Amino acid sequence: MGNAAVKWRIGLIGVGARGMSHLSGILTERDDVTITRIADLVESRAADAAGLVREKMGNTPAVTTDWRRIIEADDVDCVVIASDWDNHVPAACAAMRAGKKTACECGGAYTLDECWELVRAYEETGNHVMFLENCCYDRNELMVTRMVRAGLFGEVVHCEGGYQHDLRDMILKGYPTNQFRVASFMHRCCEYYPTHDLGPIAKLLDIGRGNRMVSLVSMASSARGLNDYAKRHPDTIDPAMQDYRFCQGDVVQTMIRCAHGQTITLTVDTSLPRFYSRNFTVQGTRGFFAEREQTVFLDGDSHSRSDYLNNLDKYRPEWEHPIWKRFNEARENNADNAKLHGGMDWILFDAWFDALAEGKVPPIDTYDMAAWMAITPLSEISIRNGSSSVDIPDFTRGAWIDRGADKYVGEWALDR
Ligand SMILES: NC(=O)c1ccc[n+]([C@@H]2O[C@H](COP(=O)([O-])OP(=O)(O)OC[C@H]3O[C@@H](n4cnc5c(N)ncnc54)[C@H](O)[C@@H]3O)[C@@H](O)[C@H]2O)c1
Repeated sequence: MGNAAVKWRIGLIGVGARGMSHLSGILTERDDVTITRIADLVESRAADAAGLVREKMGNTPAVTTDWRRIIEADDVDCVVIASDWDNHVPAACAAMRAGKKTACECGGAYTLDECWELVRAYEETGNHVMFLENCCYDRNELMVTRMVRAGLFGEVVHCEGGYQHDLRDMILKGYPTNQFRVASFMHRCCEYYPTHDLGPIAKLLDIGRGNRMVSLVSMASSARGLNDYAKRHPDTIDPAMQDYRFCQGDVVQTMIRCAHGQTITLTVDTSLPRFYSRNFTVQGTRGFFAEREQTVFLDGDSHSRSDYLNNLDKYRPEWEHPIWKRFNEARENNADNAKLHGGMDWILFDAWFDALAEGKVPPIDTYDMAAWMAITPLSEISIRNGSSSVDIPDFTRGAWIDRGADKYVGEWALDR
């Protein structure tokens, strides 16, 4: 799949769980890419990844433990970053400055300056990064965005989202991979993973394209989940974790206010027992969507809750987004879809490679990445100061009102 006439030469940084998923499920399946270089701090992982490329594509990528070798290489057109959070901004900025087409996995920022550094790298070079926030393209998010754009929900005034995922085992067994997650829990208290839930909401509310986030407040619960889990799993979890005083509250909630008055509530909740949810919720003057209840409720519908639970199939024939209609026609029964989060990972890379092929700005760009990632350090400041209100910087320096030609226009931008 992809445009076989073009061959983007890819350098991949980070081949842990996510990098390997990109490699095996997407990059080695596309006709429009070759993989020329792979970097990972762990040499054996890079070598294994190169072996997979050899098996599936016939060529053997060069491997390195130094990500900088990828960025300076002449045989790399595009850099894909799927490493730990602390490597994202340095690698993305270096790749942008080297003129590479750059795509970077999601996560929160460590500091506000990192977000400004992304903006500076773009403004110096005119070369945007694509932020790989796959949840922007999930099926319900796209259907609801389409319904909102068509006016079914009236004027949207409030959205909610969450990253609610029981990761206790993954966080506490953080070695040898995923060190960055346990380190974050040990040393920080914040909305540490805002973009899965914020991304689709920001698109729907036109953040950076006529609207912007202006302020937030955050509050954190106590941190008990990981200690309790460690005590009950002494055979598999390092005993030192049983009484470690973790900083990260088990549930952190953040309320954001937008320039046009809408509010957004985000919840990060990954160290207590629970089912997975991103709790995507949209409330407008004429309608309501709630992921948790799998429901659309339009003004005038009867108020009986049971009539509306799990009623999404009623809306799919008319409101399924064309992106998902096309995906279902082409790949609905593909065995890899489960590994690709139902298909949204595949769609995400289609969005990026289509923009590259058309010579356009990426549909999720540097300003999106900076603004969404900034929620993490800003929430940290708010929590530290007793949940005080914190201003959210305008990373576009005023251009959010009208980005002019410097933005992706079209279906992948979810602006229609
Ligand atoms: N979008 C999604 O659905 C999704 C899902 C999982 C993870 N992620 C994101 O993907 C990224 C990676 O997560 P993961 O679960 O694969 O973690 P992981 O620990 O399994 O893999 C990270 C890999 O990057 C390597 N690495 C770290 N720093 C490096 C550096 N400076 N240079 C080269 N290699 C380096 C590590 O050695 C490791 O192999 C994170 O940003 C995470 O938030 C996104």
